[in-house]
Amino acid sequence: MPQKIIIDTDPGQDDAVAILLALASPELEVLGITAVAGNVPLPLTSRNARVVCELAGRPDIPIFAGCDAPMTRALVTAEHVHGKTGLDGADLPEPQMPLQDAHAVDFLIETLRREPAGTVTLCPLGPLTNIGTALARAPDIAERVAGIVLMGGAYFEVGNITPAAEFNIYVDPEAASRVFAAGIPLTVMPLDVTHRVLTTEAHLKGFRAMGTRVGDTVAAWTDFFERFDKEKYGSAGAPLHDPCVIAYLLEPEIFSGRHINVEIETVSDLTRGMTVADWWGVTERAPNATFIGDADADRFFALLTDRIATL
Ligand code: RIB
Ligand code: CA
Repeated sequence: MPQKIIIDTDPGQDDAVAILLALASPELEVLGITAVAGNVPLPLTSRNARVVCELAGRPDIPIFAGCDAPMTRALVTAEHVHGKTGLDGADLPEPQMPLQDAHAVDFLIETLRREPAGTVTLCPLGPLTNIGTALARAPDIAERVAGIVLMGGAYFEVGNITPAAEFNIYVDPEAASRVFAAGIPLTVMPLDVTHRVLTTEAHLKGFRAMGTRVGDTVAAWTDFFERFDKEKYGSAGAPLHDPCVIAYLLEPEIFSGRHINVEIETVSDLTRGMTVADWWGVTERAPNATFIGDADADRFFALLTDRIATL
């Protein structure tokens, strides 16, 4: 029986690769994709999600537009990383498939109330605004969620949008605080682990060798996406953040981490959006998240290229 998931996303080249990995994996049933404002504004993230599904040959996937701004703050975007469209690097046609009429938050609430409790996993890949808003509007859904596997946060790697905070958490710390306090089984893919899966030339060879439209597109996105991180970090490649979430669902043993307490800074401007991870157990605060710290990069990229090659 495939695992039912909802992908909440702000595409973003790395989100796009995560969506492709999910659609290429029969172990997963994507009930829907909910777009949120993040890397680029909502009109673009809800367009980009459709572009990716059509690239994968899956115009049947229901896609919903969600929140166009954080719960209480002004939107911060990341065109400097992802380009003006959010999917710079490859020219793809405008999507033909329509957006669903329902708002993403209504889709999340209605789906979680309809599906048997404990059968739907949420996979947020961007700011947590849609999820936080759904929890605020319908607290009853918290106990119905099977689990949340999200990309966000940082501890040893520290921040990427500020010295203290990772982008997804920084954009909407209030939403993140709600998610981390909801009591839902939570697995977090922070920068600590995503910076272990760098798009080095060796790892990218598989995409380039596929000879498929999808493989060529992923290679082109990665070429664009990695220029920013390689220049900033002087690294041999870019961290492929969001696909870690889907890879974890498929092969959790690729990853390792600790079940610890993680709190979100929402008060200080200096450390806004910091994930205060009690990795060394120095507080009495109750563990609320499995915080992933490492991954086998070779196994990760082998999984990714094997699956994407099937599209
Ligand atoms: O900090 C990395 C995260 O921010 C990734 O999800 C990327 O897509 C951006 O949303
Ligand atoms: Ca993202």
